Amino acid sequence: MPRIAVIIGSTRDTRFADKPAKWIYEVASARDDMEVEIVDIRDFDLPFFNEAASNLWMPSSDPNAVRWQQKIAKFDGYIFVTAEYNRSIPASLKNALDQAYVEWNHKPAAIVGYGGLGAGRAVEHLRTIAVELQMVPVRSGVHIAGAEFLKVHPLGANGEMSEISEAILPSANAMLDDLAWWTKATVAARNAETAQAA
Ligand SMILES: Cc1cc2nc3c(=O)[nH]c(=O)nc-3n(C[C@H](O)[C@H](O)[C@H](O)COP(=O)(O)O)c2cc1C
Repeated sequence: MPRIAVIIGSTRDTRFADKPAKWIYEVASARDDMEVEIVDIRDFDLPFFNEAASNLWMPSSDPNAVRWQQKIAKFDGYIFVTAEYNRSIPASLKNALDQAYVEWNHKPAAIVGYGGLGAGRAVEHLRTIAVELQMVPVRSGVHIAGAEFLKVHPLGANGEMSEISEAILPSANAMLDDLAWWTKATVAARNAETAQAA
């Protein structure tokens, strides 16, 4: 069974991120084509990137960065849950992405974004970053935007995710279908490469 990590991009104490992360985790867990786990960047106490190079070129020296790399290496694909901070992804997520390289390679990236405009600009930035990390950003994504965002955000009505589920479930299903397809394809390709090298 492919292993998928739901990576929570925001690390601030009062973040909203947990709500959409838990929601997409539950939707993905209900499927029979993936095994899902929430991975919280906050649990890794990552420093700001301070290595001589990315781990494409040399092993990282920081023990927490190595622990992070070992964790993300266990997965076949990722669902990034991202806010939009000043039209891009939170610095905490960019730093966590930079703290690894080879572990991301040849694996799919799906994205759940939230914000006034559904984190549309952050999501596109993240797709470009994913390409540089040799990932496969999938076409479909979830954008929790506008009135839906305000229904569930603490600065709005602070309602339950179930109140907007009907509106965002079709895009979540499309995204998870894309993710499942690309996970299967990239697992097969990586396995073929390993077998050939053996
Ligand atoms: C520093 C900062 C910059 C922000 N910039 C944007 C933005 O560019 N677009 C947007 O839709 N919301 C923006 N927001 C509002 C966020 O969407 C909102 O605060 C959200 O809850 C942040 O995610 P988090 O609570 O999971 O950290 C910004 C918030 C902060 C704190």
